[in-house]
Amino acid sequence: MTSAGRRLLASAAAMLLAVSMASAVESASAGETDPGVKDTTPFAVGVAIDQRETTGTAGVLVARNFDQVTAENHMKPDAWYDGQRSLRMHPQAAAILDFASAHDLHVYGHTLVWYQQTPAWFFQNASSGQALGTSDADRAVLRERMRTHIFGVARLLSERSGLFGAGNPVNAFDVVNEVISDGPESDGLRRSEWYRILGEEYIDLAFRYADEAFNGVYAAPGVHRPVKLFINDYNTEYASKRARYLALVDRLLARGVPVDGVGHQFHVGLTTPVDAMAQAIDAFASRPVTQAVTELDVPVGTPVTAERLEAQRTYYRDAFAVFHARASSLYSVSVWGLTDSRSWRAKDGAPLLFADDYSPKPAFYGVLEAAPAPTGVLNATTRCVAGRIVVVTTVENRGASAAAVTVTSPYGSRALRVAAGTKASVAVSTRAATVPVGEVTVSSTDLVFGTDRSGYAAVTC
Ligand code: G3I
Repeated sequence: MTSAGRRLLASAAAMLLAVSMASAVESASAGETDPGVKDTTPFAVGVAIDQRETTGTAGVLVARNFDQVTAENHMKPDAWYDGQRSLRMHPQAAAILDFASAHDLHVYGHTLVWYQQTPAWFFQNASSGQALGTSDADRAVLRERMRTHIFGVARLLSERSGLFGAGNPVNAFDVVNEVISDGPESDGLRRSEWYRILGEEYIDLAFRYADEAFNGVYAAPGVHRPVKLFINDYNTEYASKRARYLALVDRLLARGVPVDGVGHQFHVGLTTPVDAMAQAIDAFASRPVTQAVTELDVPVGTPVTAERLEAQRTYYRDAFAVFHARASSLYSVSVWGLTDSRSWRAKDGAPLLFADDYSPKPAFYGVLEAAPAPTGVLNATTRCVAGRIVVVTTVENRGASAAAVTVTSPYGSRALRVAAGTKASVAVSTRAATVPVGEVTVSSTDLVFGTDRSGYAAVTC
């Protein structure tokens, strides 16, 4: 279960308790007494993995802490081809998909079109091996290669795990990755082979093909656009790169290109002001797109000292506070790896949330500390009234504004509005003579509940 509603109902009370006990349990293996990161955030949280993180302690840790996974390497363009240029699913991609299905996780796909990790033959004439040029014929060849690739990926994923929107865990994809230039090119676009041959058109085509494949041909009938289509890039925390990114996204949206989301990789460091990440998200907030933090990591430098790991805790806490404050703009926040030495930045010093022995680092507790304190409290009781059994549920709103709340018991669901700083009760009754021990759950997009369920005692009237 990964809905925003469920996450809003996170077990923040348990989390706060755990945070207050953090120093006592930080050395505990795998943080077994701690809440999962996913239970403390209103947005989905994800992690980049390969097959090694789908089994054993690593697999347990992923399933406990995260809502979604990204294949760190095995869904990139070149991973879909064997040595004979034949399309097939990489065994590691299959393992990640199966793991996600088995643990009710989503898969954030990465990536369909990239200038790196793409077979060289994509950009070559099939018979001569010569580089494709910019003739109409050569451009048509490359367009068709892109289309065939994207449709092939969608087909293989749906053959293994079901149609999109009907059981397939893939619900988002980086359609194009790192298409923005690092320098001030006139149009702000990276000079890649895709660009040399097709120009800016290649970005439009990638989204249109992806939409046709993932949200059309291989989507479940009757499900509206089940896979969110993202553009993704790095250094968006820098104003100049961000301006080029924003200009491209605006051009795409103006042309009606089906872009659903904007990704910020955020490969940052302890000296990157967290406010720079806030500015990156804020820059796109007025556009009709969702956003994702796609590849967060924060190395501490070497040597890795206790002091630096504490600074990292503060950094992750402040970064997640930025994300919490912008939750309505965020589709998901993903860290780029599970344990430190598996990171592509391992040499820069312990960038992730978990140590190599799978124990939660101070950074993990920093993430938990960023979660806002609960503002909603729930309590359910049973009593006999005129021969009927009544389940009475009381909701307390400790927040600063009124909240809409839905209370669900085995005997029915009720919506209520609770004014700020007040309590409100709802009652549902049953003719049954006996009610067993049961549970009431609550959901609200306005309140953060310390717990989303309250048990009540058995009663006989
Ligand atoms: O597949 C080969 C394997 O056959 C061989 O045995 C092994 C020996 O080193 O190398 C393997 O390939 C490596 C691959 O990771 C899988 O481990 C590549 O050499 C290595 O370059 C590659 O690095 C990945 C990198 O992307 C490639 O560009 C990193 O793991 C991965 O974290 C990184 O991720 C990127 C995102 O996709 C996009 N944003 C930036 C991010 C960091 O660079």
